[in-house]
Amino acid sequence: MDISSIKARINQLTQEINLHNYNYYSLSSPSISDYDFDLLLEELVRLEHLHPELALPDSPTKRVGGEITKNFKQIVHKNPMLSLSNTYSEAEVTDFDQRVRKLLQGEAFEYVCELKYDGLAIGLTYVKGVLQHAVTRGDGVQGDDVTANVRTIKSIPIRLFGDDFPDEFEIRGEIIMPRSEFRRLNEERADIGDLPFANPRNAASGSIKMQDSAEVAKRALDCYLYHIIGDALPFESHYENMVKARQWGFKVPMYIAKCTTVDAIFEFIDEWNSARETLPFDIDGIVIKVNSFAQQQQLAFTAKSPRWAIAYKFKAQRVSTKLLSIDYQVGRTGAVTPVANLEPIQLGGTTVKRASLHNADQIARLDIRVGDTVFVEKGGEIIPKIVDVDVSFRPPQSQPLHFITHCPECATLLVRKEGEAIHYCPNENGCPPQTKGKIEHFIHRKAMNIDSLGEGKVEILFDNGLLKNVADIYDLTYEKIIGLEKEHTTENSDKTRVVKFREKTVENILKGIEDSKQVPFERVLFALGIRYVGETIAKKLAVHFKNSDEIQKATFDELKEAEEIGETIAESVLQYFGNSENVAIIARLKEKGLQFSINQAAVTQVSDALQGKSFVVSGVFSKSRDEIKHLIELHGGKNVGSISAKTHFVLAGDNMGPEKKKKAQQLNVPIISEDEFFEMIHE
Ligand code: IVH
Repeated sequence: MDISSIKARINQLTQEINLHNYNYYSLSSPSISDYDFDLLLEELVRLEHLHPELALPDSPTKRVGGEITKNFKQIVHKNPMLSLSNTYSEAEVTDFDQRVRKLLQGEAFEYVCELKYDGLAIGLTYVKGVLQHAVTRGDGVQGDDVTANVRTIKSIPIRLFGDDFPDEFEIRGEIIMPRSEFRRLNEERADIGDLPFANPRNAASGSIKMQDSAEVAKRALDCYLYHIIGDALPFESHYENMVKARQWGFKVPMYIAKCTTVDAIFEFIDEWNSARETLPFDIDGIVIKVNSFAQQQQLAFTAKSPRWAIAYKFKAQRVSTKLLSIDYQVGRTGAVTPVANLEPIQLGGTTVKRASLHNADQIARLDIRVGDTVFVEKGGEIIPKIVDVDVSFRPPQSQPLHFITHCPECATLLVRKEGEAIHYCPNENGCPPQTKGKIEHFIHRKAMNIDSLGEGKVEILFDNGLLKNVADIYDLTYEKIIGLEKEHTTENSDKTRVVKFREKTVENILKGIEDSKQVPFERVLFALGIRYVGETIAKKLAVHFKNSDEIQKATFDELKEAEEIGETIAESVLQYFGNSENVAIIARLKEKGLQFSINQAAVTQVSDALQGKSFVVSGVFSKSRDEIKHLIELHGGKNVGSISAKTHFVLAGDNMGPEKKKKAQQLNVPIISEDEFFEMIHE
């Protein structure tokens, strides 16, 4: 193929794939099989790899992220990002309707009713049909520039379809996390010992503020659009413009209705109040807007919100029941959570027997006591929570509740760090649920991948005293475990199943254990279950420090020099390696032959294109900084920390510090761009 046909093919593939993506992600109506889609995408990836200069800015291959943002740039909103006045009362909706009627002096008008999506607001600016920037609400006047992260959300178009959009306009909407993704993410976080997000809204807002857009890309965020601002919009009314925006490629939900009477508004409210559970995402109410722009202008704004719209918020579903007792659960990370056992009660279609009490502060604040009549609410959260106590029903001899002082599992004195609400059991290597949890994490598919030890087997080995920590796994032998068995009762069922270590099972286990010795260092590091060190952070630490000795030696400041390592993680790593029991476990694992340094093949030089040359890397690149530094080493170069007259090159990305630039110029050290660097190494 000659270059112009390749160019044409890249253009065609880009358009075609973007259209399929729109049909799939925005309209939920796929127009191609997954298989055929993958073929198109693979072809585009291949062509772009051969000719990166021909890749279009809206290429679907660019949605995987990769850009790292340390501090988000602030962007001032062209139009302030106001919120709506809220109400929980139907009477106030009627008042709103009467106010609107009065101000419009008998003119005919329409309302548009929409869902109130429970996420975080985002403003997207498009110039000549191309996404320019995406900004959070911030304080309403200016917000964070989160464009790199927002580009990874597949339902947000990078380039619009058609040609009848204004040259420049802003469209606002809500970034949300669907409930299914929220559950998946929380399970994943629990696996690696991160605290779960309380609700999908927090998860969405936490995700959009992450520094590494490649990480954002892994979370299935979505965006529903509901407000458009611009000078040359095709229609003079909200509803019609939103329908048009759908054709340009935006995800404008179908749950939107025009109505003219307050009764029709209430019908819409009632309908969605009962149907909200059937939606795949959370809503917290209904928004009612006057449709015509001219009439919106007539009604105008108060200082805080428009007079032409109101948000009706759903009351959380709430019931009262009796608090029977409190259990304290100890998680894998040692966090102790109080859980209330309740007299069973119906709430939002399910029977509730247990509710979360969060922590000691919550118990003290509510002065909650066993025997109390309590109010239970189901909000955005999956687990219902106790929100209040009806003291008028309090039994006369009831006693205030004191949070336990010792671990219910191992009797160790609990600790609570200053400023934190959660109690922890500090006995991390001797408390049964913590130990079992650590071992289960260690054998996880994403960690050491010893699948053959799953499904209740860790429990049996633990109960038989064969596994007290992860290093014990490597002392297991055929003789020690053959014939072990236990009856296993699954939750919610009376059926028992016997788990038995027969010959085949034991062989599989021993093979899995042996194979795990080849698992690369970054996954071993992840497997150790250091708090806050998930898969990504483990990789960053491994690439930066190369082996566990260097990590163990690193000071707080040295740890923070690695990409994405902030204070919390650095502190947690220090604490982990400061514990002599952990150090002893690592020593045993090392002796057994596990990988505690980065694969040599990965650092073996692939060329001598940069032989003897020293580099200072500064700024933001299309790859992470550690990857760039790794490339320098692969090609024989050397990374140095600061610029001196001996430095051969300063490799400058976006936003390189002005001081560095000045110094390089003063010392006559050539400053090269990322592209020039890739040319040097022929990539
Ligand atoms: S309209 C000037 N429509 O709720 C009015 N907002 O308290 C612009 N929200 O800031 C907002 N769903 O974050 C509008 N269908 C919807 C909405 C919606 C959710 C959020 C948005 C807004 C807040 C209002």
